[in-house]
Amino acid sequence: MNDNLHQLRCFGCGARIAGAEAQPDFRCALCGDLFEVDYPGWIQKKGPDRPNPGALKWLWCERRCSAEALDQSGVWRFRELLPILDNFGDAVTLREGNTPLYHLPRAAKALGVDQLFAKHQGMNPTGSFKDTGMTAAMSVARERKFEWVACASTGNTSAAMAAYAARAGLKCLVLIPDGKIAWGKLSQAMDYGALTCQVKTDFDGCMRVLNEIVKREPIYLLNSVNPYRLEGQKTPAFEIAESFDWNVPDHLIVPGGNLGNSSALGKGFRELKELGLVARIPRISVIQAAGANPLVRSLALTHGASIEPVEAHTRATAIRIGNPASWRKAAKVIQESGGWCIDVTEAEIAIAKAELGAEGLGCEPASAVTLAGFKKLRAKALIHSSETVVLVLTGHTLKDADYTIDFHRGTLLKDEEKAGVEKEIEALRRNAIATDATPEAVLSAMKGAKA
Ligand code: F0G
Repeated sequence: MNDNLHQLRCFGCGARIAGAEAQPDFRCALCGDLFEVDYPGWIQKKGPDRPNPGALKWLWCERRCSAEALDQSGVWRFRELLPILDNFGDAVTLREGNTPLYHLPRAAKALGVDQLFAKHQGMNPTGSFKDTGMTAAMSVARERKFEWVACASTGNTSAAMAAYAARAGLKCLVLIPDGKIAWGKLSQAMDYGALTCQVKTDFDGCMRVLNEIVKREPIYLLNSVNPYRLEGQKTPAFEIAESFDWNVPDHLIVPGGNLGNSSALGKGFRELKELGLVARIPRISVIQAAGANPLVRSLALTHGASIEPVEAHTRATAIRIGNPASWRKAAKVIQESGGWCIDVTEAEIAIAKAELGAEGLGCEPASAVTLAGFKKLRAKALIHSSETVVLVLTGHTLKDADYTIDFHRGTLLKDEEKAGVEKEIEALRRNAIATDATPEAVLSAMKGAKA
C-alpha cells in the first residue's frame, strides 16, 4: 500500500472522500462540516513501523543547505509529512517558511518569565503566515488543472494568493471588504495582478458571496476551509519543534480570526507526537480581539458546542471576523492541548504592538494580540515563570503602517478606550518631530527625547 495516499476526513461526521471529490466549498455533503487531510497509511507508522525519527530530522535539517527550490522551502522540506501532491514537481514555491524564532528579552523580563519567544511568520515572502498555506493549496490547484483560484480575505490571504497564482500562471479573484483592510495588503493584490473586488460588505459577507460563486463556476477556493491550506500552515509547528531540538515549548499563543491557523498548528503538533517525533504537544491558546470574539463566547457559554456569529469590530482588521469557519477545529485544539481562549481590548492590542516594535520586531496589530493575551494569562497566573512560551506573530509591521503612525501620533484610540492606560501609552509613543534644518534644532530634539 502506498502509505502516502491522502484522503479527506470530515471533521464533523468522519466521512472519508478522495481529495478530488470535495465539493467546491469544501463542505461535507452529509453534514456540512469541514474536512481535514488524513493519511490512512500512517496508522502503521504509529506502531512498530514508525519512521526513524532521527533520520527524518537529519534529512529535514540537511535540506536547508540544498540548492533545490523545494528543499529551500520551509514547507516542502518537510514534504514527508504533507504528501498531498502526485508530483512534487508541481509545487509552487516562493521559498516560504524557515522564519526566525526571536527571543524577547525585554518583554520576558517585564513579565517575569525566562523563556519568551516570537515565531515571526511575518518574515514570509508576502509578509504573512498565509504563504505557508498558500504554497500547499496553490500547488494542488495547479496539479488539478484549475484556471481560476479565488478567496475572500481581510487582506493577507489575498496578498499571498495573488503572489502564488502569479507564480503558477493562474488567474485569481480576490473579494475584500470595502474600506476595511489595510492598504499595504490591497496594494499587494494589485501588484501581483489579481482581479480585486472591494465588496460592499464585511469579511463574512465576502465569504457568503464567494461560496455561491464557486458553486457556479470552476474556480478553486483558497480560503482556509480548503484543507490543503492547513497542511502548509501546520509546518511552522515542525520548525518550532526543530528550533527547540525537538523538545516542544510549553505554550504556544496564536491570534484567532477565521481560526484556520490555530487548527493547523494544532494538527502539526498532534501529527509530530503521533509519529513519535516529539514526546508531547504544547498548550495552544487562541487570542481574539474583544470586538471580534465569537470563539471566546462559544467556549465560555457552550464549552465549544455551538457558536453565535457576532458583528465584528476591531482595528486589527486581519481578525475582524464574526463567523469563523474553522471554529470547531480550533475549539478542539484548545481543549485537547489544555490551552485558553481569551480576548483583549483595542488599547491592550495597541500597547502590545508598540512593545513588540520597541524590541525591534514589529508586527501587525492582529499579531500583537498574542503578547496582549500572554500578559493577561500571566496576570491571572495561568502561565508559570518557568514555562517556555512562543508567540506566533502572523504579519509584518509594514502591512498596516497607518495603524502604527496613528498610534504614535496619538490619534489611534478614543479617550474612553485609553482610560486607565494613558501613561503606559504615552511612554511608548514616538511621534516624528518636525525640526528646522540646523544641527542645533536636531540636537535639541535629541535632548528632549524619551529614554
Ligand atoms: N493574523 C493575521 C495577520 C491574519 O491575516 C489573520 C487572518 C490572522 C491572524 C488570523 O488567522 O484566520 O487563521 O485565525 N487573516 C485572514 C485573511 C482571514 O483573509 O488574510 P486565522
